[in-house]
Amino acid sequence: MTSLIEFAGEARTAFPKRPFALRHKLADHPLFTLERLVALASEMPTDAIEYNSGKVGIDQKPEETPLIDLEPVEVVRRIREANAWMVLKRVERVTAYRALLQEVLDGVARDMGHRDAADAGFTNLEGFVFVSSPNATTPFHSDPEDNFFVQIHGDKFFHVIDNSDHSVVPGEAFEVTPAMHRNLPYRAEFEARATVFEMKAGDGCFVPYLWPHWVRTGETYSISMAMTWKSPAVRRSNKVLFMNGMLRKWGFPQKPLGVSPVLDGAKAAAYTALRAPLEPLRRSERLRNFIRGALFGRNANYYLASRKG
Ligand SMILES: [Fe+2]
Repeated sequence: MTSLIEFAGEARTAFPKRPFALRHKLADHPLFTLERLVALASEMPTDAIEYNSGKVGIDQKPEETPLIDLEPVEVVRRIREANAWMVLKRVERVTAYRALLQEVLDGVARDMGHRDAADAGFTNLEGFVFVSSPNATTPFHSDPEDNFFVQIHGDKFFHVIDNSDHSVVPGEAFEVTPAMHRNLPYRAEFEARATVFEMKAGDGCFVPYLWPHWVRTGETYSISMAMTWKSPAVRRSNKVLFMNGMLRKWGFPQKPLGVSPVLDGAKAAAYTALRAPLEPLRRSERLRNFIRGALFGRNANYYLASRKG
């Protein structure tokens, strides 16, 4: 069976350390028609949908993000003229999207010589579907996972900045917790270190763990999906970043990830021990919001405030 995502040549040596362009066969997939995405928006829990105006800066201050006074399904329905940016988070909770994500990553894993995604160390598969109006901007940020980003409809310009020497974004800024908005400080001179992927339907790119990026759409509305997973190393790093963020919030300064491997190991173990008893409670949206607020303060649920009406 041929893989739904194709990459070759230097991409094979770049993965998973550096970004690269790819091609895919998902542009005409029925799960990505606007009609199907309207239905998806109505199926998703409210805390899994984030949206705001697409008329924002690359360095947008989160608290000044202009909002959109429409229900999520209306945003999708009217995406051509709504001037909106929307993400449907963790779409793998819907069976059809989970099956597609699994099929894509199993195919990539087989192309790399593995049996399947699990055999390649691709676990925690998660999907994020982006629906954006023309000329919309996603501000500068990073994500705590590896990502095959596929462009389904419209044009997208994806700027990935090389931060491998930590000169663009300091380690502390990656301590992304629910209380910290994901947007990162941006300066125009970062562009000297950018790889820019100009994508049309059928194009995509690989975005490595924590590589900061910003994105803009072209003259038509855009549909994209981030197909993400976490390797064992990424999962461990995320535990340390979470603990560092929480301890810093509570007033305890922390060494950034990677500075002290022994301390990092202890933090990862503490996270695992603390998380287990909370897991059953997290199945309820109300309890999820309560836990976020209790650990990180009122701003932890910042994106719920982006709803109007
Ligand atoms: Fe991102």
